[in-house]
Amino acid sequence: MAIPHRSWSRDAVIYQVYVRSFADSDGDGLGDLPGVTARLDHLTALGVDALWLNPFYPSPMADGGYDVADHRDVDPSLGRLADMDALIAAAHERGLRVIVDIVPNHVSDQHPWFRAAVAAAPGSGARQRFWFRPGRGPDGAEPPNNWLSAFHGPAWTRLADGDWYLHLFATQQPDLNWDHPQVRNEYGSILRFWLDRGVDGIRIDVAHALMKEPGLPDVVDGAPSPMWDVDTVHDIYTQWREILDDYRPERIAVAEAWVILPQRLAKYVRSRELHQAFNFRFLTADWNGPAYREVIDASVAAMAAVNAPTTWVLSNHDVIRHRSRLGRDLDPALALRRARAATLMMLALPGSAYLYQGEELGLPEVFDLPAEARQDPVFARSHGTDLGRDGCRVPLPWSGTQAPYGFGPSSSTRSWLPQPAGWADLTVQSQLADPHSTLSMYATALRLRKTLPTAVGITWRSATDAAVLAFDRPGLTCVVNTGDVAAPVDVVGDVLLASGPHVGPALADGKLPADSAIWVGAA
Ligand code: NOJ
Repeated sequence: MAIPHRSWSRDAVIYQVYVRSFADSDGDGLGDLPGVTARLDHLTALGVDALWLNPFYPSPMADGGYDVADHRDVDPSLGRLADMDALIAAAHERGLRVIVDIVPNHVSDQHPWFRAAVAAAPGSGARQRFWFRPGRGPDGAEPPNNWLSAFHGPAWTRLADGDWYLHLFATQQPDLNWDHPQVRNEYGSILRFWLDRGVDGIRIDVAHALMKEPGLPDVVDGAPSPMWDVDTVHDIYTQWREILDDYRPERIAVAEAWVILPQRLAKYVRSRELHQAFNFRFLTADWNGPAYREVIDASVAAMAAVNAPTTWVLSNHDVIRHRSRLGRDLDPALALRRARAATLMMLALPGSAYLYQGEELGLPEVFDLPAEARQDPVFARSHGTDLGRDGCRVPLPWSGTQAPYGFGPSSSTRSWLPQPAGWADLTVQSQLADPHSTLSMYATALRLRKTLPTAVGITWRSATDAAVLAFDRPGLTCVVNTGDVAAPVDVVGDVLLASGPHVGPALADGKLPADSAIWVGAA
């Protein structure tokens, strides 16, 4: 009898590398692909299964590389195509899989297709690969509809010839028209380009945005969105799945889809579509027992209904780092305790987990970057009312006591975003030396996690205090205290790992301190 195939991705821990901020090999202040390759041993020591690289393609960097000008090459500031081949080979030698970011909703305004569209006349074929429309009002001076950009401001920009074009993100990111067969063919070919080069999977940027409601109707409060999660988007992913399934060994796809209703999100991971979807409902949940219990149950149930793995994520390059988000008004030490507890909860849950570079160091969000250093278009488009996402993209501290903390060669003193003074204790080097550091906690958690039997669901234990979450999965009990006082905990078995400064197999007084979590071995 054939043994059913179980995808490696179902319980994988995938580490997100924000290339520009990971490691700078040439001292220009910008992280690059050779920098990633040179630091892969950090990922093997940490114990992750795969890395996902944010876009590294040629780009004017109007949105940190999510404005792609050529999807089949590497931006010269980040390396060359040969560096990507070398990175894939070096990762595979270490047993690490590699996932690349595919950006299908939009291209850069410097992409040859958009340049041709701008050079062509209104109504011409070259414009049909995008969403060009005449404006409303007597002289067409009003945008074609009331859609707003996710980055603040209108979703339409007008050209000198009077036509408007759609961009759900920055002005420099024109949306592609996925009704156009050339767009579909082009992305099929881009997928094959990277799969042929040996990548193990793709992360699909704004996977829920590609299809627009025919006629581009106005957004109406309470009505289904005409641009997010439109049902016809799923046809694209069944086609992509066929492409992925042509390859051996297995290649996977993960959807970045901010679709909050779990049943809607589950549609993206039905058996003939994608393998995973980020669980942003978990990421956006408050530090609160009942809220977590609800989101965990809803996520597991919705994904189990389509036989897909649940995924878990607390941080990425688009949100405030979870240390600062979950503990925003707390003192930094308490915020770190809470972040570590959240992490242990996440890593105990069955399914796949995504880590964002620097969370293993307990990095905080950098809120006080100078305005002139900020590069996120969100900051400029909101006229500074929204700080944007640069604060979670500050380059990693690797070693030493002052900037650039080993991010680049010692001869270089700068990095594209300035690192704060006071990160000396947060470097990889200093944390490796400390068995109680956040880095050590992550590494221990990942090592223990690998020994656990695979699981789909969890069983809740009853707790007298709603702030306390306690669940069993095969091989492990996890208890989390989201409250602000120590809570009695009734578990049998040794404490294998604790998020707080706990030492020893038993809890003092049988109580779990506030804002902490423990893993207890099966009795
Ligand atoms: C989601 C990406 O994660 C984000 O960084 C980017 O700005 C938008 N998509 C637009 O591509």
